[in-house]
Amino acid sequence: MKNIKRIGFLLVLAMIFSAATQQVYAEKTYVIGEHMAPVTKPDPASTYVGSEKCKICHSDKYNDWRTSGHPYKLNTPAEAQAFNSPAIPAPEGYTYNDFYLVIGGWTWKARFLDNNGYIITKTGPGKDINGSNQYLLATKKWADYSAGQTKKFDCGNCHTTGYSLTGSQDNKPGIVGTWEEKSVGCEACHGPGSVHVAKGGGKGVGILKNDSAALCGACHTRGADDTKIMSKDGFIEHHEQYPEFLNSPHKELSCVSCHDPHKGTRVGQTNPTAGASIKAQCSTCHPKQNNDFTGSTMQKAGIKCTDCHMPAAGKSAVGDAASFKGDVKTHIFKINTDINAKFFDDTGKFANGYVTLDRACLNCHNDKDKAWAGQYAKGIHKFVKAETTATQSETPVSTSVSTQKAPGFELLFAIGALLIVALARRR
Ligand code: HEC
Ligand code: HEC
Ligand code: HEC
Ligand code: HEC
Ligand code: HEC
Ligand code: HEC
Ligand code: HEC
Ligand code: HEC
Repeated sequence: MKNIKRIGFLLVLAMIFSAATQQVYAEKTYVIGEHMAPVTKPDPASTYVGSEKCKICHSDKYNDWRTSGHPYKLNTPAEAQAFNSPAIPAPEGYTYNDFYLVIGGWTWKARFLDNNGYIITKTGPGKDINGSNQYLLATKKWADYSAGQTKKFDCGNCHTTGYSLTGSQDNKPGIVGTWEEKSVGCEACHGPGSVHVAKGGGKGVGILKNDSAALCGACHTRGADDTKIMSKDGFIEHHEQYPEFLNSPHKELSCVSCHDPHKGTRVGQTNPTAGASIKAQCSTCHPKQNNDFTGSTMQKAGIKCTDCHMPAAGKSAVGDAASFKGDVKTHIFKINTDINAKFFDDTGKFANGYVTLDRACLNCHNDKDKAWAGQYAKGIHKFVKAETTATQSETPVSTSVSTQKAPGFELLFAIGALLIVALARRR
């Protein structure tokens, strides 16, 4: 993995000498995922000051950011206990006094660093049992991560701000490199801000505003080759959003076309609102499909665009491959309705770049198969289950309506709907 990254790094270096790829290089110099500190400083004299300094003048952005997952990537034991209620338990054999830092624990899972900075991989009363060292938030269970190995924390490039490969943070032997601030702070995306702060702020004054997808792609990728969607054990690997996006019909857009980068999308410990960061909904840009879908059988059953177009085809912590249910939503978006289309290539190591009907449909319709889904997939937006075509083996639909609309049907339906609403209100 690291070797691949180094090769990638050399390739990027080679590109510098090619005038034709100046643009690519300009984006790639800011790649945190390549073990490189951001070279693109807003000002040659800029140094890191920390997110707390930005709060003074940008309290709105600061408060939004505090509710998102980015500030909770690396936490002191006290912080990890404070934002999780009840606190995540310590692995067997340990107490919170035995941790230098807790990795994550905001959304999917938590891993723990011992007081020498190594990732804890042995647990149990004698700290000699391999594994059970990774806590899964969704199931409240323990899982194995690099069980029993001596595992240094070399993750600072994406989990910290102002990362440098030199030295070891707090002189901890298990830590590779040093950082200016834990977690993904303001300056991870805006560059070091000392000059901006010293000059009293201002647009374009000693600060970067980069709205390219490549900025997010520095961390939301596994780094080897951004055109390939890395996969494992029947799932897309976690933090592959950038490669997925580059394979999607949205590749001409940016992450921030849909996301407010300061707000969280996941419901996490500090963000109660699902999708809070989504500033442009699917319906904003696809009004036709939204119109078609409105009133369909599934829309009435509460199904959303994202249920089919962004199924959880990726896995970070918990997944059931047999029923196509992971825990990271895909950013591939495009659905291939061919029932023979395969989600992965023959090696299983890469996804093909489209959502297949098993992922799009069968994680809900788990008693059906792709051939069944294929009958309906084309034109599914407008699909209204017709009473006349319903077979006895199918469960009756309470919202079923006739596709052969008789004159006056709309009026009758509207009156019926009003009656239902009125009845529901009285309950
Ligand atoms: C002393 C007050 C002050 C502090 C401290 C401050 N800023 Fe600003 N910042 C400003 C002002 C004023 C603007 C201009 C706002 C405008 O014109 O809309 C600005 C603009 C920005 C912009 C937009 C730049 C652009 O070109 O559009 C960013 C990004 C930004 N600040 C980030 C930060 C970060 C990150 C920090 C902490 C390292 C920080 N600021 C600290 C006052 C401050
Ligand atoms: C994950 C990356 C990321 C982090 C972390 C981040 N920002 Fe931003 N910020 C952006 C991007 C990208 C934009 C440009 C947004 C756009 O174009 O829609 C932006 C825009 C801004 C702006 C300009 C807003 C405007 O209306 O023009 C300010 C000010 C700002 N950020 C301040 C902050 C502060 C303060 C923090 C920390 C509390 C912070 N940002 C953390 C990515 C980030
Ligand atoms: C190339 C960037 C990158 C590197 C390197 C990286 N991570 Fe991450 N990690 C992410 C991103 C992005 C996410 C969240 C998005 C996702 O998982 O799809 C994440 C999520 C996590 C989470 C879940 C956080 C939570 O709150 O649920 C844990 C735990 C974690 N990483 C641990 C590690 C450890 C340990 C290492 C080093 C061995 C590491 N990561 C290396 C980018 C990275
Ligand atoms: C310096 C590395 C880094 C950069 C740059 C970065 N991210 Fe992240 N991102 C992470 C990590 C690590 C996590 C896992 C945080 C967690 O859940 O604990 C994460 C989590 C997220 C999440 C899920 C958690 C939540 O708050 O809902 C979203 C959404 C997200 N990032 C969007 C973005 C966008 C959009 C950008 C670009 C504007 C971006 N990220 C840039 C590292 C990064
Ligand atoms: C900011 C605008 C924007 C938003 C928000 C947006 N899209 Fe798109 N979408 C586009 C553009 C632009 C294209 C490419 C042009 C096209 O094919 O219409 C596209 C293409 C697509 C395609 C492929 C179209 C085709 O003809 O094959 C799908 C599927 C899609 N989007 C689904 C979604 C879903 C689902 C959502 C919500 C999660 C969404 N989009 C949100 C702008 C947007
Ligand atoms: C029940 C699953 C499902 C839901 C829900 C759904 N779609 Fe689709 N969508 C599909 C399928 C399947 C296709 C492929 C159709 C084809 O190729 O004929 C598709 C195709 C599309 C396309 C490509 C262009 C087209 O019309 O074929 C866009 C854009 C799109 N959907 C947007 C949306 C939006 C926006 C929503 C929510 C308002 C939505 N979809 C809800 C399954 C769904
Ligand atoms: C077309 C709109 C769109 C674009 C472009 C987009 N996202 Fe998202 N993203 C979404 C939506 C919608 C969700 C799910 C919101 C929800 O769960 O309600 C999401 C969720 C996420 C999540 C959380 C995943 C999960 O399982 O909940 C991460 C991380 C993320 N996006 C990162 C990114 C990054 C990085 C990029 C750019 C490479 C990006 N997104 C581009 C619409 C978009
Ligand atoms: C998030 C869950 C979910 C997803 C994903 C989903 N559906 Fe549905 N679907 C439902 C629900 C709920 C109903 C309504 C059940 C009822 O009332 O009969 C339904 C109803 C249907 C019906 C009519 C009822 C029947 O069984 O004949 C068809 C056909 C259908 N879906 C096809 C699809 C196809 C094709 C896809 C993928 C493109 C898909 N669905 C994706 C949940 C889902």
